[in-house]
Amino acid sequence: MLRERSAHHTYLLGDKHRQGVRSRGPVRRRRKHGNVIRKQGKNIIVGDYMESKKIAAERAVDYIQDGMIVGLGTGSTANWAIQRIGHKIKKGLNIRAIATSKDSEIMARGLGIQLITFSEMEVINITIDGADEVDNEWNLIKGGGGALLREKIVASASQKLVIIVDESKLVNRLGKFPLPVEVVKFGYEMTIRNLNKLGCDPKLRVLGNRPYITDNGNYIIDCDFKTIEQPAELHNEINMIPGVVDNGLFINIARNVIVGYNDGTVKELEKII
Ligand code: 5RP
Repeated sequence: MLRERSAHHTYLLGDKHRQGVRSRGPVRRRRKHGNVIRKQGKNIIVGDYMESKKIAAERAVDYIQDGMIVGLGTGSTANWAIQRIGHKIKKGLNIRAIATSKDSEIMARGLGIQLITFSEMEVINITIDGADEVDNEWNLIKGGGGALLREKIVASASQKLVIIVDESKLVNRLGKFPLPVEVVKFGYEMTIRNLNKLGCDPKLRVLGNRPYITDNGNYIIDCDFKTIEQPAELHNEINMIPGVVDNGLFINIARNVIVGYNDGTVKELEKII
């Protein structure tokens, strides 16, 4: 059962581009800039996907309370959340955080966010992360930025996972976004053949003219399924292939999704189980 909370918010445009790493994966073509309207004496930009990411991210940060251990996601949407957390820390918020990628770690450190490791904690109170696709059951595709493994480890250790997306990420059925699969380098050609047998068009992710390497020293295979009928089954089938470390399907993990819309509104969706 889904419960929806909605509020109307308008914000000024923040000019932040997608992370370099993110653009190495499959890319969506979206409009970057919206229209400027004048409201309450301010220039408001609507119809901008970066802005819709930002408003979703900032709403999620409202859930963070003093003393919490916070999981920091990866990607352009999660970056907005990290920035907001950094801002709140300067105003006195006291939290410790664990990052899902080296990029997020570097950003967090630069903003004065105290980082810890799993040896220093047992449970993460809240994790805020983006997604590449979110279906009606709130199953996700993640890993467009190559961080799916650390993201899944952090999400699984979290009491609350808040997924922040712009409206373009909502889909009826997963699969239009090629599913990222992290594989070890050894025998990856064989692993690709085995992935292909599951009905997808698998492609080794490259950066320039070299294979893209994850923070864990592995390769990413982007698997174009077009449509994924049974995400839970597919998740397990992929992870059974020798050489696969993990895949970007997040099944039944997300309970809270915050969606930023191009018209400046934000919706908070909560899954009641
Ligand atoms: C990184 C991810 C990101 O959360 C996902 O790719 C969404 O990225 P963005 O917020 O830049 O659209 O899974 O591995």
